[in-house]
Amino acid sequence: MTDLGKQRVLTGVKPTEAPHIGNYIGAIRPAIELAAQAEDSYLFIADYHALNIIRNAEELKEYTYLIAASWLALGLDAEKTAFYRQSDIPEIFEITTILSAVTPKGLMNRAHAYKAAIDKNKEAGRKGADLDYGINMGLYTYPILMAADILAPRGTLVPVGRDQIQHVEMTRDIAGSFNHLFGDILTLPDFYVQESTGLLPGLDGQKMSKSYGNHIPVFMDSKKRRKLIMKIVTDSKLPEEPKNPDENTIYQLYCHFATETERAEMRSGFEKGGMGYGDAKQLLFEAVERDLEEPSKIYNDLLADKKRIDTLLEKGAEKARETAAATLKDMRHAIGLR
Ligand code: ADP
Ligand code: TRP
Repeated sequence: MTDLGKQRVLTGVKPTEAPHIGNYIGAIRPAIELAAQAEDSYLFIADYHALNIIRNAEELKEYTYLIAASWLALGLDAEKTAFYRQSDIPEIFEITTILSAVTPKGLMNRAHAYKAAIDKNKEAGRKGADLDYGINMGLYTYPILMAADILAPRGTLVPVGRDQIQHVEMTRDIAGSFNHLFGDILTLPDFYVQESTGLLPGLDGQKMSKSYGNHIPVFMDSKKRRKLIMKIVTDSKLPEEPKNPDENTIYQLYCHFATETERAEMRSGFEKGGMGYGDAKQLLFEAVERDLEEPSKIYNDLLADKKRIDTLLEKGAEKARETAAATLKDMRHAIGLR
């Protein structure tokens, strides 16, 4: 790992869904920790990226607040990290236009989100020009906008999920093309994937995912959370029977929320017999509640005072605009604009 003290950590989050505990443990918490250790950090809400999916003004507004409140409640330090809305940085969009001119169309053809949309059309029996059915230019040029997000404030280390690695690599390609033509202006970023966390299972034992409907939201009413946890699918072994904790969703989740001693107790209870699934679910519920109690309060307070969220995001945007404007100025100068 490179020296974090010298990195400018930057990442974006689409305001499309409320986070679940898999997102929290697998992405949000590690990104916050990374930002805290880095010399400098930028985190933004990618609202123009969300426009490709969300076509309802109220929904986009609501999700933006919800994502902002989630990250702040889960520990993002908005004093240290520039936390902002992508849409508040107009320089990003001018940079997108410049980058478009140096991006080969073929590169966009290879982007996995576009390819997946094409494959879906193929599966539906579409052919020829119809293969682009339902695909808008926002989806097609998504990697260029993402490159501008990263290059504008000169992010050097970009924490992302595995599915986003290709986009960071494309950012390097696009920045490389620009630099090749116009001089060494843009900073090439590296991606960063948190390897150690592993994937959290969902209620049915598969990977926890919104798309499988097996997730536990981070922020929800306690009673509802308890009900969800009680729904975790198990086999029908009796409490006194020994069980393998490593094949057990309750234990897998518990590991992320319990102390070392608590983990060891549940583990040995399962292995020796004596730990029933009902009791284990109650312990899991209590550990999750303990971890999320304080964040939940902060979350609810923030959502009750959206002006406060606006003020924080505006402050972050001021800082991000400063760096983005400097990058844009260098780019304009390099290409021959005033
Ligand atoms: P979902 O599958 O619910 O749509 P996303 O694909 O939006 O989740 O994931 C957002 C981030 O959260 C990614 O960085 C991903 O690696 C992380 N993540 C998602 N699901 C899990 C999980 N079950 N366990 C750990 N991390 C996860
Ligand atoms: N594309 C990312 C996602 O779907 C979100 C995103 C937009 C992003 N711009 C970014 C992530 C810049 C990192 C850097 O999750």
